[in-house]
Amino acid sequence: MLNIAVFISGRGSNLSSIIEYFKENLNIVSIKYVISNNKEAYGLKIAKSNNIPTFLISPDKLETEKSYDILAEKLKNNDVDLIVLAGYLKKIPDSFIDKFENKIINIHPALLPSFGGKGMYGLNVHQAVFNKSVKVTGASVHFVNKVYDEGLIIAQQAVDISDVENAEEIAEKVLKIEHTILPYVISKIAEHKIIIKNNRVYINE
Ligand code: GRF
Repeated sequence: MLNIAVFISGRGSNLSSIIEYFKENLNIVSIKYVISNNKEAYGLKIAKSNNIPTFLISPDKLETEKSYDILAEKLKNNDVDLIVLAGYLKKIPDSFIDKFENKIINIHPALLPSFGGKGMYGLNVHQAVFNKSVKVTGASVHFVNKVYDEGLIIAQQAVDISDVENAEEIAEKVLKIEHTILPYVISKIAEHKIIIKNNRVYINE
């Protein structure tokens, strides 16, 4: 059983897709916690309606670091094996990353390394993609390291956007990909089918 914790900041549609996916595959993944920096995040309601414990990262600057320390302790005590950032809009502190090296993954709504980095989240990404008249975009799942969106890429899936009329259309196409690629990667991690060799990630199907 792979024990995971999911970090969210907003509506939680990626969280929802993870919950639904693993309802069908009960015996391989258990969602131990849902964590947010935003007490209004709709994803917290999704967690509660699925009886998943939640944890709030304090928004108070002085308390935030302490929050992450307390959380790290909780996650370790609950044998959490993998941390999934699913629309989490805050930078994870280096000290927290050190405690979970190569155990944190993130979903990014573009084909990294393009359209990644600070400020590239949500609709900003799709607007930048649209403004460049890009023809193909997609979603990326990658390991999280100490530089925004720069960890090793685990999986990507592309979609043709030649005929879109606006950024919202791109967002819709990419979100559909996110909802399948993220649970897929989590399931491959649960099945120990992710191999890192020569600084590249391979998935044994
Ligand atoms: C998704 O587009 C994700 O790629 C990005 O933020 C959005 C979160 O959506 N990081 P949701 O909260 O999972 O619905």
